[in-house]
Amino acid sequence: MVDAHSKAKAAQIQRVGEVVRNFYSELPFNFHGSLESSVEAIRRPPVQGTYPDLHTLLRSNGDPGFHVLEVGCGAGWLANGIALHYGVHLEAIDLTPAALKRARALAPLLGTEKFVRFLECNVFDFETDRRYDLIMSMGVLHHTGDVFGAMAKLAPLLKPGGRMYLGLYHEPGRKVFLEEMWRLARENGEDAAFQRYCQLDSVHAADDTLARSWFRDQVLHPHETQHTLQQVDGWLELLGLKLESTSINRFAPIKNKKKLFRLELEYEARSRKALFEENRYFPGFFTALARKPL
Ligand SMILES: C[S@@+](CC[C@H](N)C(=O)[O-])C[C@H]1O[C@@H](n2cnc3c(N)ncnc32)[C@H](O)[C@@H]1O
Repeated sequence: MVDAHSKAKAAQIQRVGEVVRNFYSELPFNFHGSLESSVEAIRRPPVQGTYPDLHTLLRSNGDPGFHVLEVGCGAGWLANGIALHYGVHLEAIDLTPAALKRARALAPLLGTEKFVRFLECNVFDFETDRRYDLIMSMGVLHHTGDVFGAMAKLAPLLKPGGRMYLGLYHEPGRKVFLEEMWRLARENGEDAAFQRYCQLDSVHAADDTLARSWFRDQVLHPHETQHTLQQVDGWLELLGLKLESTSINRFAPIKNKKKLFRLELEYEARSRKALFEENRYFPGFFTALARKPL
């Protein structure tokens, strides 16, 4: 019975992987219209403003042996960006060849090819003898069909004291945005939803290919799940990892988890306000940084 259950689960994960690869093969996520435009974007500091906890971690590491694994690197902005701005070594895996092709093409233009090794691989099939100081995965595991399974696969690959950095869709935070986009697409057509998306996400709207790649990913995805920090914290604990910081409280020190988990329930109202009152892009995404004990 247990065996049948794990076989069914493995088959489901495989199927999701195929659907997701096919989806991104048409147009990978965060895909600029030209290589030059990607290079220009990656030359800007990649995480300093958005993910200050990740920036502090990368900036403070003076160890030349510091090694990073990125899971689901897509077109390579983060792996190439981190190599360029922090001089660390990375392995970056993804299951979509079209995304990896772009990520690899960017490396020599940025001078990062000695730092990053891009590999085509499904996270569930990834094997290595290496142990990492940092394993990061931004906007990926919620497209795999088994977030906890992927975390459980990755946790043993951390060195003692190593960190896991995850970016995931947030359940209360995401609902409002998705429902509004789907309503527009249903009632007025996909193009109307795309136009509304471009109004909200003006950062990516200037480059049509880039805007389409974001819109498809954010609104038309064939497989996504949504999560809460409380749920992820429970999974981290099961894996022996300790939550250190999160975007949910804007990266403030974590003093009281109960308060933190109450705060995340406010995200639905925040999202509603951002979208309908402030006309602001609020896709509903959160991060969690966790550490493996020494
Ligand atoms: C939303 S994109 C994020 C890409 C990148 N992390 C970024 O922030 O630009 C999701 C990426 O995860 C990859 N992916 C999805 N499922 C995967 C899996 N099971 N193993 C490896 N990569 C996966 C997809 O191919 C896609 O490139």
